[in-house]
Amino acid sequence: MGPEALRVAGLQAALESHGLHVLDRGNLHGPANPWRPAVDGYRHLDEVVAWNRAVHDAIYAELQSGHLPILLGGDHCLAMGSISAVARHCRAVGKKLRVLWLDAHADFNTSRLTPSGNLHGMPVACLCGFGPEALVHLGGAGPALRPDQVRQIGIRSVDPGEKRFVHEQGLEVYDMRYIDEMGMRHTMEQALAGLDADTHLHVSFDVDFLDPDIAPGVGTTVPGGPTYREAQLCMEMIADTGRLASLDVMELNPALDVRNRTALLAVDLIESLFGKSTLMREHQARRGG
Ligand code: ARG
Ligand code: MN
Ligand code: MN
Ligand code: MN
Repeated sequence: MGPEALRVAGLQAALESHGLHVLDRGNLHGPANPWRPAVDGYRHLDEVVAWNRAVHDAIYAELQSGHLPILLGGDHCLAMGSISAVARHCRAVGKKLRVLWLDAHADFNTSRLTPSGNLHGMPVACLCGFGPEALVHLGGAGPALRPDQVRQIGIRSVDPGEKRFVHEQGLEVYDMRYIDEMGMRHTMEQALAGLDADTHLHVSFDVDFLDPDIAPGVGTTVPGGPTYREAQLCMEMIADTGRLASLDVMELNPALDVRNRTALLAVDLIESLFGKSTLMREHQARRGG
């Protein structure tokens, strides 16, 4: 239902209003949600593998055609499919990869650490090589990512074992405490430091990144997220780099939303991510500022 809510909220028209050419490839297909308990620490592993294969192939095909793919979710476990395709593409064309993970959660659990068995809590770990074979090798032999390619922003809910593992692997995490103390501007300057013309920037946007007061339409809300203005600045600073090359918009659940406001907010933020500029910035740009 997430992708449909984003369509209803006018995502395509919003992007087109900024001069972008947008192809809606429609929905992918895969097995239904069996709603079963975890087996060996994973819920619905076979279904998750099947869906991620479909996502991987679709995203890889778009990248090969020179397009900028936007994955609309859907569960955040599907970022394994998209990011494994992005990493494979980067290897093929010799680009560096930077992943910005905008989320309330670190999504760095393993089958041993997870409190829930939900694979949406594990995609970053799987992409870094810690997970079941079928998911770790979605994009070919070897893990898709090194932990030093990832920057996590907005984090405020990490499970105890997961926390130890995040530190052990040296993930660069800008949690809400950091954003409170240093501000979103400094946070984004740090997270975006070192990008150059050879860098493919992937943004994985879990909508629960946002404060639940402004974005109630997600399954795993955590209070104390970025405000509307902080989220806008985050997106605008990503746009300013000119390096955005692929995007996930994940975890939107219209059944939990209020009059589609979370989808509308997501569309608003995606516009900023694609460079919707205020008068101020255009003014500065004209002056070479
Ligand atoms: N840490 C929790 C878990 O592993 C919640 C993860 C939430 N992730 C998400 N993409 N909504 O179950
Ligand atoms: Mn989910
Ligand atoms: Mn989350
Ligand atoms: Mn997530």
